Amino acid sequence: MTSPAEAKPTADKIAQTARRMLSEKAEYFTESVIREMTRLALQYGAVNMAQGFPDFPAPAEVKEAARAAIAADDNQYAITWGAKPLRDAIVEKFARTQGVTVDPEREITVCCGSTEAMISSLMAIINPGDEVVIFEPFYENYGPDAILSGATPRFVKLHPPEWTFDPDELAAAFSPATKAIILNTPNNPTGKVFDRAELEKIRDLCVQWNTFAITDEIYEHMLYDGARHVSLATIDGMHHRTITINALSKTYSVTGWRVGWAIATSEVTAAIRKVHDFVTVGAAAPLQEAGTLALQMPQSYYETLASDYLVRRDRLLGILTSAGFRCFKPRGAYYIMTDISAFGFPDDVAFARHLVKEIGVAAVPGSSFYRNPADGRTHLRFTFCKKETTFQAAAERLAKLRR
Ligand SMILES: Cc1ncc(COP(=O)(O)O)c(C=O)c1O
Repeated sequence: MTSPAEAKPTADKIAQTARRMLSEKAEYFTESVIREMTRLALQYGAVNMAQGFPDFPAPAEVKEAARAAIAADDNQYAITWGAKPLRDAIVEKFARTQGVTVDPEREITVCCGSTEAMISSLMAIINPGDEVVIFEPFYENYGPDAILSGATPRFVKLHPPEWTFDPDELAAAFSPATKAIILNTPNNPTGKVFDRAELEKIRDLCVQWNTFAITDEIYEHMLYDGARHVSLATIDGMHHRTITINALSKTYSVTGWRVGWAIATSEVTAAIRKVHDFVTVGAAAPLQEAGTLALQMPQSYYETLASDYLVRRDRLLGILTSAGFRCFKPRGAYYIMTDISAFGFPDDVAFARHLVKEIGVAAVPGSSFYRNPADGRTHLRFTFCKKETTFQAAAERLAKLRR
């Protein structure tokens, strides 16, 4: 007889058994393509124009505030729903920029980035059988977010070149099962900025079907060509239906700090806070302290941010156009969606792999923004939150495509 200790399973057997024991939810989605492109960029020494993180420094005073907070021993758990000074600063800025008044004591949850704010919000409102409406192409997290929270996504297309939606198609996506619509404006990956008339159409459906709207507004200050950001919460009838999500990540070039927040009515906030508390306890305390200073930056900070990004957008448009890409000019956020049909590759993934391995530039395959990969096969997304030397390197390498 063999003893249990002698019957040692092989590594293959262990792996097989482990795979059978995984959750179905985790099986339903793949790893992030965007973050995978960053790893490939590192592996092949490619210029990373894929993932949306700035490669230039964060504002000196914001970094100094973080150092000071750590030195002052602000190193223990903050209040689970956010340090009071940060919540006050968020309220003050939302009132100053959008004219929306909220209660810092009962209507805000500070989370680990807008990523956690989104999943905690969904987990706070979704029941089995609920549906969420999502515009497509979409920021890739929203698909797994829906699966993890147990919602069934209903996708509604944004049609190029202006990334408009068909009101009838949107109306057809709503039903008694709809719990919420997820809206990202300014939009990743298209650069679309939803205007008031579009937001009012969305409002009409939210009111008709009694649903929430969850808005991801993290690119609110990156606007070009006269585009204006309108928070959905400012639209008549939407204040109490909207969960507004934002973060320090993009506005202050601190994507690694993981500080974001969700603003919602006190009833909804109470549920979000409970989910958030048990998922993460809280966001990094000293970085919340530094975020308080960041949110108090003068108007000139946001003006410079937008004008610097306009220069970067035009720089990348120039590089991509000369390399043979057809570009969809963004009016907001910091990405350019391109059409790659002219290059004659079988699809976006094949072209993205060629670019990263042979040309030395990483970009994101368009299919990662669509439920059906075939819908994104002629697209590739590039980011322009990069410094001039990065643009130069990308320009030199992409010029090889022309030869
Ligand atoms: C639309 C959108 N939402 C959320 C995030 C992630 O934000 P955070 O760093 O605040 O979690 C990103 C990052 O690229 C994004 O593009």
